[in-house]
Formats: sequence, C-alpha cells, structure tokens
Amino acid sequence: MNREQVSDMYEAYAKKIGDRKQVYETIASTFDVKRALYPGSHVDIAPSLVIPHVIYVDSFKGTIRFFKNLEMVQELVNERKEYDERCTIEFFGQDYTQPLDIEPVDLIISQYAGFVGQATKDYLKPGGILLCNDSHGDATLARFDEAFELIGVIGSANELVQTGLDEYFQLPKGKVVDIAEVKKTMKGPQYTKQVENYVFQKRRD
Ligand SMILES: C[S@@+](CC[C@H](N)C(=O)[O-])C[C@H]1O[C@@H](n2cnc3c(N)ncnc32)[C@H](O)[C@@H]1O
Repeated sequence: MNREQVSDMYEAYAKKIGDRKQVYETIASTFDVKRALYPGSHVDIAPSLVIPHVIYVDSFKGTIRFFKNLEMVQELVNERKEYDERCTIEFFGQDYTQPLDIEPVDLIISQYAGFVGQATKDYLKPGGILLCNDSHGDATLARFDEAFELIGVIGSANELVQTGLDEYFQLPKGKVVDIAEVKKTMKGPQYTKQVENYVFQKRRD
C-alpha cells in the first residue's frame, strides 16, 4: 500500500463508522489517558488523534495489511493529532484473547469486536477506564463483573454523563439479565434505557 491508499482506507472506514474522535477525546481528556489498548480495532485509528500512545490489536488480514505500513499510519496521525508529543502506535496482528506483551494501559476500547473487556482487563491499570458498547454484550458483562464499576455513559453530544446510572442495564418488567445467554449469543439484551457507549472503571482493590 502507498501513502494515498493508507489514507484512503482510513478515510473510507471513518466515513462508514462515523466520527468517533469526540467520544475518544471526552474520555482522554476527562481521565488523562496517555496509553490505550484497542483490541478488535480494524482501522479505526481515531483514538491516536487524541491519545499519544495507542496499541491496536486485530487478527483480520485487511487490518494487518493496513498496519504493515506503520510509518505511513504514524505520519497520517502526526499530521492530524491534537496533542504536542509525537504519536506512538503499536500494532499486534493477532487474536486478542492470546497473551500480549505490553505494559498496563489507562484505557481499553471495546467497539463491536466481541468480549474485549473480559479478555483484556488484566492489561488495564487499577482505576483505568473501559469504554465499551453493548453490541456483542461486552458492556453487559462488564456491568455484572466485580472487577468493574459503571461510572458513566456517553451522552448524545459525546459528553460524559455520570448521573442516573441506575437506570441502565434494566430489563422490562424487572426481568433478570441472563449472562449465560449473553455469552452464548454474543448479543447485548434490549434494555429499557440504553446508550451507544458505557464507561467503566476498573476497581482498585
Ligand atoms: C466489526 S469490526 C469493528 C472494528 C472497530 N472496532 C469499529 O468499531 O469500527 C470487528 C473487528 O474485530 C476484530 N476481531 C474480532 N475478534 C477478534 C479477536 N478475537 N482477535 C483479534 N481481532 C478480533 C475483527 O478482525 C474486526 O476487524
């Protein structure tokens, strides 16, 4: 791939998934995130525009081809990033459930890529943040995992909302969430109130 193809691939993908930079920016600035891990990233490199060091992990052939041009990807980010230091990007073209040789991170990003939070929470610093959605049920698993506390949701203007959190993860008629079913179907349940992104903090004890 040449520089233009790398740029085109990112642009086309960013257009397809929508602009998530503001969500990442909200999390990065609120929690002073310097190092993040993004398992199942595909080519969503928007986190690097607002976070100086991001480690991407994806086993898909097309993603591996994209990150093979790491210098070009880094150049692209350096032209558009919103922080002073040079960006650091690492990529592991592997299954994220397999061991990763990395230092602990401030943030894990889980977007439409399976049970990322569950598989990689050991790499998250105590007090670190898990940003995740519930498309595959990863947010549900975090909500019912003692290792995490729900501390916020992302509102419609990409802002962090930290009130009324008890209203989330409630099923109609007070039904109880069936975690085994979520694991089997890899689908988040239909809750009475839900948002696109949830913010969890890894407990310190
Ligand atoms: C639907 S895409 C979502 C990509 C990106 N997170 C986004 O929100 O636009 C899921 C990505 O996760 C990757 N993925 C899923 N399971 C994985 C695993 N166990 N190890 C590594 N990559 C995985 C796939 O290769 C794919 O690129």
